[in-house]
Amino acid sequence: MEILRVENLTKIYGKGNTKVVALDNVSFSVEKGEFVAIVGASGSGKSTLLHLIGGVDKPTSGHVFIDGKDIFKFSDDELAIFRRRQVGLIYQFYNLIPILNIEENITLPLDLDNRKVDKKYLDDLIKLLGLEHRRRHLPNELSGGEQQRTSIGRALITNPAIVLADEPTGNLDSKASDEIVDLLKKSNREYKQTIIMITHNLDIAKCADRIIQIEDGKIVKEI
Ligand SMILES: Nc1ncnc2c1ncn2[C@@H]1O[C@H](COP(=O)(O)OP(=O)(O)O)[C@@H](O)[C@H]1O
Ligand SMILES: [Mg+2]
Repeated sequence: MEILRVENLTKIYGKGNTKVVALDNVSFSVEKGEFVAIVGASGSGKSTLLHLIGGVDKPTSGHVFIDGKDIFKFSDDELAIFRRRQVGLIYQFYNLIPILNIEENITLPLDLDNRKVDKKYLDDLIKLLGLEHRRRHLPNELSGGEQQRTSIGRALITNPAIVLADEPTGNLDSKASDEIVDLLKKSNREYKQTIIMITHNLDIAKCADRIIQIEDGKIVKEI
């Protein structure tokens, strides 16, 4: 089953002599449960693509369908709700809320949505993340790897249609990076979670089912 379809997606920033074609007519689709890596040099358009898929930014032209829905046809309010429920985002610099403890950071997307936390799923997830002993700690009391595991928990708690990770290991040493990649693989296998991950590390990309290579805003190769 197709969970994501990107159709003729183009993003142009600026105009005149500051015009940048960040994404140039990109099309591809992803099946439910696939783990896809996106690779490419710095400035090739990877983050732009991920932001558009996540509905964080709007394209100049083209479409993004998630679970059959054309996300740019939503009103701003509808899109905000859709993103909160169906898209899990993981960034290089965790973006945790410093005054919330680890468990509260993980359940934040549900709390913002006035939805109940499934205690059993939360416990299972925190165990999968290896954070049982850190539930009541604050983010600044944790290592970088533990903070990133927390942000993965926050992305997974809503059972989103799709998880988008932009260089999730970019700020971590190789041991913590391996742990993060293992965790993403596990969530892909155990929860059949669809994941799209940007990385410039080819060894990390090889853990994915598929690798899409981008150059100058275009897909140049699919492995
Ligand atoms: N908000 C913006 N305004 C203008 N240009 C931008 C903006 N964001 C990205 N760009 C440009 O678009 C191109 C692609 O950027 P980006 O998607 O961040 O690449 P990557 O993530 O592959 O490093 C780059 O040339 C970058 O300078
Ligand atoms: Mg980037």
